[in-house]
Amino acid sequence: MPDFRKACVIGWPVKHSRSPLIHHFWLNKYHIPGAYLREEVMPDSLSSFVGKLSDCGYCGANVTLPYKEQALTLCDCTSDLARRLGAVNTLWFEDGRLHGDNTDVDGFLANLDEQARGWDLNCKRAIVLGAGGAARAVLAGLAAREIESVTLLNRSLDRARQLADEASGWGFRQVRADSLDPAGLGLSEADLLINTTSLGMEGQPRLDLDLSRFPEDAVVCDIVYTPLETELLKNARMRRLRTSSGLGMLLHQAAPGFEHWFGLKPEVTKELRTMIEADIKRDKK
Ligand SMILES: NC(=O)c1ccc[n+]([C@@H]2O[C@H](COP(=O)([O-])OP(=O)(O)OC[C@H]3O[C@@H](n4cnc5c(N)ncnc54)[C@H](OP(=O)(O)O)[C@@H]3O)[C@@H](O)[C@H]2O)c1
Repeated sequence: MPDFRKACVIGWPVKHSRSPLIHHFWLNKYHIPGAYLREEVMPDSLSSFVGKLSDCGYCGANVTLPYKEQALTLCDCTSDLARRLGAVNTLWFEDGRLHGDNTDVDGFLANLDEQARGWDLNCKRAIVLGAGGAARAVLAGLAAREIESVTLLNRSLDRARQLADEASGWGFRQVRADSLDPAGLGLSEADLLINTTSLGMEGQPRLDLDLSRFPEDAVVCDIVYTPLETELLKNARMRRLRTSSGLGMLLHQAAPGFEHWFGLKPEVTKELRTMIEADIKRDKK
């Protein structure tokens, strides 16, 4: 019988996190004795909590808002990618040392690959809406797939410029920053559009974009997953464009952590997706 192992998600607040549902689905599916808990850690207590993670019996953890940046500084070893993003979302112990990585990039790419197969074959120009933590992960993903040119549009132009400056050293031919003006997006020349802002999320303002000039073989991706299908994706689907929704990114980003903690690479299946979709719909009622 394998050891009982446990992991957790650390955040403030964490009661809405769907990570326990995802990891318990996999623990049950693969008959692994283990648990995955929520740990609500008060501001100012992250360092002491992470310091006693192993003593509390945890073999690792996910880190969510607002601690992804601070957690990076608490690790003994971090990946190049985590340092580039300035944030970690997955912690695990190896040889007694605390390792940290950022799996949002893997999650973003695996989801696009699954939902819009071959999207990167002829993708030269991408438009990214937003310049926060998620936009940074998306840009790193686009750099990994050698996309030539990116336009970064954000409500706060300064933030867009700062991220564009940084990303210009990641291998792109061109990274342009501009303010978020839906009227002047230049959609007709883009192959891929990705929304990483919280616009279109439940309780947030709408994201109104006219997709009529977007090329018919282009792909629209929205990383927002509540609602499961955002207005942006609905509009894209009506225009018969290929789309990629946010839930898959959430599911795929969870897989590397599970493998570190429980020793098996889990599959993102239709069954898992249906279970989480049902939970999101239940929450809405
Ligand atoms: N699917 C997934 O696995 C996944 C993973 C991570 C994040 N997400 C989702 O991605 C979204 C962004 O997350 P994040 O971590 O990047 O957050 P963040 O760092 O706080 O960034 C938020 C972004 O949204 C923009 N924004 C917020 N309110 C806006 C408004 N009213 N009008 C225009 N722009 C607005 C911000 O612009 P300013 O810079 O001007 O404030 C910024 O670019 C959230 O909805 C989150 O749930 C999904």
